[in-house]
Amino acid sequence: MDIARTPSTPDGNYQMADAPPEPVDPPLIRREDYKPFDWLVPQTRLDFALGVESTRVTATLSVARNPAGEQAGEIRLNGDGLTPIEVAVDGQASNSWRMDGNDLILPLAGEAHEIRLVTEIDPAANSQLMGLYASNGMLCTQCEAEGFRRIAFFPDRPDVLSTYTVRMSGERQAFPVLLSNGNLVAQGEDSSGHWAEWHDPWPKPSYLFALVAGDLVARRDTFTTMSGRTVDLAIWVRAEDLDRTEHAMESLIRSMRWDEEVFGREYDLDQFNIVAVGDFNMGAMENKGLNVFNTKYVLADPETATDGDYDGVEGVIAHEYFHNWSGNRVTCRDWFQLSLKEGFTVLRDQLFSEDMRGAAVKRIEDVRLLRSVQFPEDSGPLAHPIRPDSFREIGNFYTPTIYNKGAEVIRMMRTMAGPERFRQGTDLYFERHDGEAATCEDFIRAIEDGAGLDLTQFRLWYAQAGTPKVEAVLDHDGETATLTLRQMVPPTPDQPTKLPVPIPLRLALFDRATGRHNGEQLVVLTEVESVVRFAGFAEKPVLSINRGFSAPVAIERTVEPDDLVFLARHDDDAFARYEAMQELIVGHLVSAIGGGLPDAARTEARQAIGGALSAILTDPELDDAMRGELMMLPSQTYLSEQLLVADPGTIHAEREALKAWLGRTLEGELAALHQRASSQSAGMGHAARGARKVKGQALVFLAAGNPELAATMAASQYDAAETMTDRQAALMVLTGLPGAERTRKLIDFYNRFQNDPLVIDKWFSLQASSLHPQVIEHVKALARHPDFNLKNPNRVRSLFMAFTGTPLGFHAPSGEGYRMIADLILALDPINPSTAARFVTPLGRWRRLEPGRAALMRGELERIAAKAGLSRDTFEQVTRSLG
Ligand code: PHE
Ligand code: ZN
Repeated sequence: MDIARTPSTPDGNYQMADAPPEPVDPPLIRREDYKPFDWLVPQTRLDFALGVESTRVTATLSVARNPAGEQAGEIRLNGDGLTPIEVAVDGQASNSWRMDGNDLILPLAGEAHEIRLVTEIDPAANSQLMGLYASNGMLCTQCEAEGFRRIAFFPDRPDVLSTYTVRMSGERQAFPVLLSNGNLVAQGEDSSGHWAEWHDPWPKPSYLFALVAGDLVARRDTFTTMSGRTVDLAIWVRAEDLDRTEHAMESLIRSMRWDEEVFGREYDLDQFNIVAVGDFNMGAMENKGLNVFNTKYVLADPETATDGDYDGVEGVIAHEYFHNWSGNRVTCRDWFQLSLKEGFTVLRDQLFSEDMRGAAVKRIEDVRLLRSVQFPEDSGPLAHPIRPDSFREIGNFYTPTIYNKGAEVIRMMRTMAGPERFRQGTDLYFERHDGEAATCEDFIRAIEDGAGLDLTQFRLWYAQAGTPKVEAVLDHDGETATLTLRQMVPPTPDQPTKLPVPIPLRLALFDRATGRHNGEQLVVLTEVESVVRFAGFAEKPVLSINRGFSAPVAIERTVEPDDLVFLARHDDDAFARYEAMQELIVGHLVSAIGGGLPDAARTEARQAIGGALSAILTDPELDDAMRGELMMLPSQTYLSEQLLVADPGTIHAEREALKAWLGRTLEGELAALHQRASSQSAGMGHAARGARKVKGQALVFLAAGNPELAATMAASQYDAAETMTDRQAALMVLTGLPGAERTRKLIDFYNRFQNDPLVIDKWFSLQASSLHPQVIEHVKALARHPDFNLKNPNRVRSLFMAFTGTPLGFHAPSGEGYRMIADLILALDPINPSTAARFVTPLGRWRRLEPGRAALMRGELERIAAKAGLSRDTFEQVTRSLG
């Protein structure tokens, strides 16, 4: 503050100006500024005197100089909202420490010391759900990325690895179960209640620390590892949820076996514990030996969980388990390397699920997810490379880019090397870096050395943001087919110009007459432009490109609808069949959305799509699970991505018009498919699951084409439903159709499941994401429902994240939908900033919208930005989104 301008009182005494301090932007942290920490912390002892409203934490750190660091005269211990109660060095109380913002700085000379720090925290008041917090009477922790500093002063960075011993004590009644990382070494009774001591022999960063205390019961099992050790497995839940843990346990055992067989990775402790928590910011967390899960990814039974939920449980259990090697045994040097563990672990869980459930359908699901969430991120204001260069709040970088594009980038290495050589690369990576905090560069080098690849140019995939576009032109002359490929990586924030990247494209050329190709090839496009010639084609072949989605790029090509119909029917690559259907439909919708499509052309395009869909509905060779994929229309977001300027209303209208036309035209076939599948949809086997999927898809088309018929069919499907999959699919259709049946079934659903939070989440979501014209009014009413709760992230997402996907609600031309989300962000930010910040993403799309909506959306971002005291999380996302 400028003293000269300080107002003075009449008696001449100076007085401080009564203005708030100038807001300072949270600092930008840069990857290039990385420096090792000056101290090592070989051992950490934590003592917790537990209480829901007050927990006393005593942390004892043995510290030693880091030979790789500087000879500093002090140690910086990170804190977040902590006040030190006692600080001691080598047993002597210290008063030479000072606070620097949230951090504690302690002068420290010499080589090695023991630091003891006491703090006290209030878990019940922790609504951020970072650090130690209370959920349903139990206590649990979430430390990734920077939550440990809300528990104890510590060098809270992933390159400081320490061996933890944890003692907890508390009232036996409130906390009969006491869990932490590693193995239980002792437990007993004392004056204050009971206690347990855990020891984790594997050095780990603080973000992998965990503690759980509460009234829980376990499903137990055992696993014998490849070297013959027995591991005790336990999944801890509330007593009433115990009978919904079987699928999670089976998934865990399958994951453990698969990681041994496919990656040669064995589990390394005597115990493995999973705990389900109802209040959780993310899906789950891989804390060493003690994974903490959102209940959504543990609990499942056929009446309350859909087939998709079952897959989610299996995939997330596998993901967290796989982190034991890709993340825990080899961890990240700094948070810029996040994709080192996340991209690789997502790839590992994808490959696992491909092996468990069939590769074709799983691959299609993964690509659909990538295109609907990661492609938009990569083309918007929040685009960043899979290894970012800077951030203000690391919590904002747990993104589809780091996770899903990260997985695609590593998958490309695997495609180029082949699975066996790739495995040699990962073996080398684990061997070289076991027990270390590594970098993406370390990973790349291990794959180069182990798999025998040259990844020099490929490293650009780590450095450049944006989804590359590849233009493919196939010419034919005489006996030769000539394929010209041209790539372009679009500009992204801070990266106006790009270099070409290596793009591995699996492709095949089909002979129109025989319906076959003579072998698939892998072409790696490394230049801006390449020309590939294929001899021996008397007639122009049909090009099948980016088979299996071998590269995360957008292919742009002009292709005859007939060729796409051909591929949709004949391609032997399942993904390519799906892709041909998508291309056929996208091609038509994009020109329809553009306007001015003559009636004759519209009819012709619709007939081509209808013919292909009809073949899919009736093809006896097709597996229903695959049929269900082929029946799906490209999503609203994927369609928006294809347009430079999007009008959500027009896109929605054209997409619905096509759906209705198909529903009417193919009504007989759709109804017959629904009927046939209904007779095969009992049980949890593969065929029954496929049957349920096509039933749901058939209803979606019929609801658009013949709402009355669909309503009748959906009502009887709902009444007869034995699974949540059938019930939810029916209710989804009814929720979008105005009428008395809608209200009746929504009431029935609520009454049936009112004591089951995960199912009530579905009840909120179905209404918030529906095609009903009054969706805005419904969401407003639901936000006032007694079961709505701003403090529970699952509930908040089930209402509002679902709503951000509605073209008629979120994108209402009045701007009311945007305003509702902005209001939510402002209300949630002080409670749970990391969850609040995630709602900024949908508001960041303004640049790609038509001018009216763009201005309204931008206005809401500006309104949020103007609010004083925003969290770092929301501040960063809003300023980046305004660009
Ligand atoms: N590391 C977790 C995972 O990917 C995700 C997570 C991040 C959970 C931050 C909580 C907080 O498995
Ligand atoms: Zn992960």
